[in-house]
This record gives sequence, C-alpha cells and structure tokens, in this order.
Amino acid sequence: MSVEPQPAPADKALRVREMFARIARRYDLNNRLHSFWRDQAWRRSAVRVAAVQPGQAVLDVACGTGDLAGMFDRTGAGRVVGLDFCEEMLDLARLKFAGRRIEWVRGDAMELPFADGSFDVVSIAFGIRNVSQPRRALEEFVRVLRPGGRLVVLEFDRPRGRVLGAAARFYLDQVMPRTAAWLAGDREGAYAYLRDSVKAFWTAEELAGEMVRSRLSDVVSRRLTLGIAALHRGVRP
Ligand SMILES: C[S@@+](CC[C@H](N)C(=O)[O-])C[C@H]1O[C@@H](n2cnc3c(N)ncnc32)[C@H](O)[C@@H]1O
Repeated sequence: MSVEPQPAPADKALRVREMFARIARRYDLNNRLHSFWRDQAWRRSAVRVAAVQPGQAVLDVACGTGDLAGMFDRTGAGRVVGLDFCEEMLDLARLKFAGRRIEWVRGDAMELPFADGSFDVVSIAFGIRNVSQPRRALEEFVRVLRPGGRLVVLEFDRPRGRVLGAAARFYLDQVMPRTAAWLAGDREGAYAYLRDSVKAFWTAEELAGEMVRSRLSDVVSRRLTLGIAALHRGVRP
C-alpha cells in the first residue's frame, strides 16, 4: 500500500506558492515548449473524460493560469470555477480569460471553500503532487462532488520504456530543468524542484489506488505520450 508521498515540511505550501509566483510570467511558454505542445492535448483529453453535461458545475483546482478551466468553459458547463492559492497565477488567468464567465477563486486544495456536493466535475492538472497532503486534498475533492460526479486528475509520471523512455527521462532529468529555469529567469531551482517532485510522488498506479482509497468508483487511468503524464478518472458513488 502506498503512503503519503512526501514528508511535507511545514513550510512546503509557502515555498510552493512563492515558487509559482516566481515562474508565473513564463509558465505558459515553458509548458508549451517543454512538452512539445502536448500539454494542451493532455488537457483536452482531461475535458473529454470528464463528460460534462450542459449546465453542469465544474471546479478546476490548482488552476494556475487557467488553461484547463478555460477549456471547461467551452463545454456548455453552467458554472466553471478555477481555484488556486497563488495570486500571481490567478492574475494571469483573469487576464487571459477576461470577458469569460469563469469564477477565479483564491483558495487551498486541502480546504475548499464550497459546500458538500457542489460540483459535477472536479479536476486537477499537474497540481496534486504540489499539495502538502494529497490524501486530504482527494478527500476534499470527493466531499464537494455530487453523487455521480467525476474527479479527473492529470499528473506527470515517469516514462518507463527502455529506449524512448530512457531518452524521455534524460530530457526530463537533465535538459528541461536547465532550459526551463533559463526561460523563466529562475535561479532558485524551481524546475529542479518540479523534476524531483515527480520522482518523489506516487506513481500513476499508486495515484489510481489512492483514488479508490478515497472511495471513488470506476477508476480508470490512461498513460499519455510515452508515459510522461497519466490521466485518471473516478466517479463519486
Ligand atoms: C504546475 S501548476 C499547474 C497549473 C494548471 N493546473 C495547469 O494545468 O497548468 C500547479 C499549481 O498548483 C497550485 N497549487 C499548489 N498547491 C496548491 C494548494 N494547496 N491549493 C491550491 N493551489 C495549489 C500552484 O499555485 C500552481 O498554480
């Protein structure tokens, strides 16, 4: 059985928030370049498995600069909320999606400011491994879902193949942290942290197991692009 993935020092939340504030300005460009433009395709897959019905309510947790919430807003959803604890990321989301009716909320994934059963879909993309107590966050996601509601989690994984997998691991371990830091103008190791946080976090199989443990049913997972990322969906019974 898997355990909480990181010992989560008391100041982890503060450090993560400050780190995202530092890299916010170049966050989107870094995502596109370093995923070879796959990141938006991964988010589109997340929207598809969420199967939003017209008028339904969607919460995107750890929304960052808002790309996934922006996509949910095009599905005919009745309400789309993007929540993040980093004001700098939210500011960029507000700017990018000005004029859209997405609600941007500052808040913590582990203490969602919503009543039980408020949403038909809860999503989190590349966010759960940054949360200091991911199990607590999963419990919160299940709490705010209505019965029949879907939790969609998109998260990095470690590519495993021998040849292409080894090339992808070399790129993720050695190349990306340097070029991304250079692009973001970051000298404090934000992208080395992001690389190391993927290694320290649950594997895709463990994450799926944690979703089952959180009492979600029909949990299905899919590996994306050489296993660099994985997409999971579970249903609140
Ligand atoms: C790698 S970014 C992902 C952003 C976005 N979901 C995307 O797909 O690009 C992680 C985000 O998680 C947010 N975050 C980390 N821990 C959080 C927490 N406990 N509560 C709310 N947001 C959190 C960070 O501020 C950051 O914006």
